[in-house]
Formats: sequence, C-alpha cells, structure tokens
Amino acid sequence: MSSLFDDSYHSHNGALSESEYVYIDAGFNALSPQFEQVSILELGFGSGMNAMLTLQQALADGEVTKPIRFVTVEAYPVPHEVIAELNYKQYLNAEVAALFDKLHQAPWDQDVEIVPGFMLHKVHGKLENYTAVPASINLVYYDGFAPSKQPELWRQDNFDRLYPMMMPEGLLVSYCANGQFKRNLKAAGFEVKPYPGALGRREMTRAWKR
Ligand SMILES: C[S@@+](CC[C@H](N)C(=O)[O-])C[C@H]1O[C@@H](n2cnc3c(N)ncnc32)[C@H](O)[C@@H]1O
Repeated sequence: MSSLFDDSYHSHNGALSESEYVYIDAGFNALSPQFEQVSILELGFGSGMNAMLTLQQALADGEVTKPIRFVTVEAYPVPHEVIAELNYKQYLNAEVAALFDKLHQAPWDQDVEIVPGFMLHKVHGKLENYTAVPASINLVYYDGFAPSKQPELWRQDNFDRLYPMMMPEGLLVSYCANGQFKRNLKAAGFEVKPYPGALGRREMTRAWKR
C-alpha cells in the first residue's frame, strides 16, 4: 500500500495474474513481430512485478532471443524492507525468482544487464520529467496509480510527450480504462482499441501509434 497515494502496489497472486494479462499477454506478446528489439518504458517500477514478468516471458525459451531494453521510471522507490516482505517469488519459476533480487539491487540511473539480452535501466525521477530519443520506444507499460489518486499522471500532456518518443506501430498498454484517459490518448494521436480487462474487469486499454 502506498501511504502517499492511498493506492496499492501489486503484491498478491491476483495482482500477478492481472499484470500478466495486461502487460505480458495484451502488451509484450501483442507487439508487432516486425521489431528486431523490444524497447519498453514503464511508468512505476513499484514492486518490480512487471519487470519480473517480462523477464520471465523473455526467458520462456531458455534464453532471450530478441534484445530487450526495459526502462522504468519511478518517482518514489519502494524501501528495501518492504520489497523483502513481498511474497510473490513463490509464484515465479525458480530461475526468475532467483533474479528478483538482481532487479531490485540494480543501481538507479544506469544500464544493468540482468541476463544476456535483457538490459534494465531504473530511472529515479518523475515520468513528467523523462525524455527519450524520438521514435525509440515500442512498448509502454502505463502502470500508474488510479486516476482518482493521481490525476496528473493521466492528463493529455503526458501522452503528448510520450507519443513522439514511440516508434510507429508502438503499443501502450494499461490496466486502466477510464474514459477521459482514453480520450486523452486519442487527442495525443493514439489509435485506442477496446480490449477486455483481466479477471472479470470489463475493459483495459491498448493504444497504438500508427
Ligand atoms: C501501481 S504502482 C506500479 C506497480 C509496478 N509497475 C509493479 O510492477 O509493481 C505505481 C507506481 O508509480 C510510481 N509513481 C507515482 N507517481 C509517479 C511519477 N510521477 N513518475 C514516476 N513514477 C511515479 C509510484 O511510486 C508507484 O511505484
């Protein structure tokens, strides 16, 4: 739980299934095969769950076959003692569970190779201040706390900034299906398609840069 924003991190099995559905199945696995490498930008490293699930998926065939660069921007890093209490290592395969600590121990603001082909870069700062080379990102995990808790993260100016950083055919995914969020994405130029949500939720969001 974040006392700052009164919203929860992912820390139980249901949340893990939801993240797997939204970010891996509907995001990572839905990315156009035309890309020779996957360049991910995540809003909110938080518990590191999305990074771990991505690593697990990337290692599904035993080794990383397509290079992955995973940049995650986190304004309020979760303290080490809270991370130590997370119990979801048990739901991951043994190889990835062993890499859990490596993801968390990676220093901020530098490239760290977690396994060959998987580069992690944790940015300690606000997404609002993050900039990337134009057309360099092909997948965005937009995993902020809910619009009711942090409305500033869901305003159109965020998507106006993100859009040029993304490559054509790049994809943004989020668990959130808030109407104003989707209108803001469209106004920024994204093609927004309805997609069924995880675990009985009516909808989630997928938005493409065409
Ligand atoms: C729902 S949690 C993310 C969960 C995370 N993706 C995971 O896999 O556990 C939202 C995260 O966004 C972070 N955050 C809040 N405001 C932010 C901002 N302006 N820029 C970057 N990160 C922010 C929070 O500290 C929190 O860790």
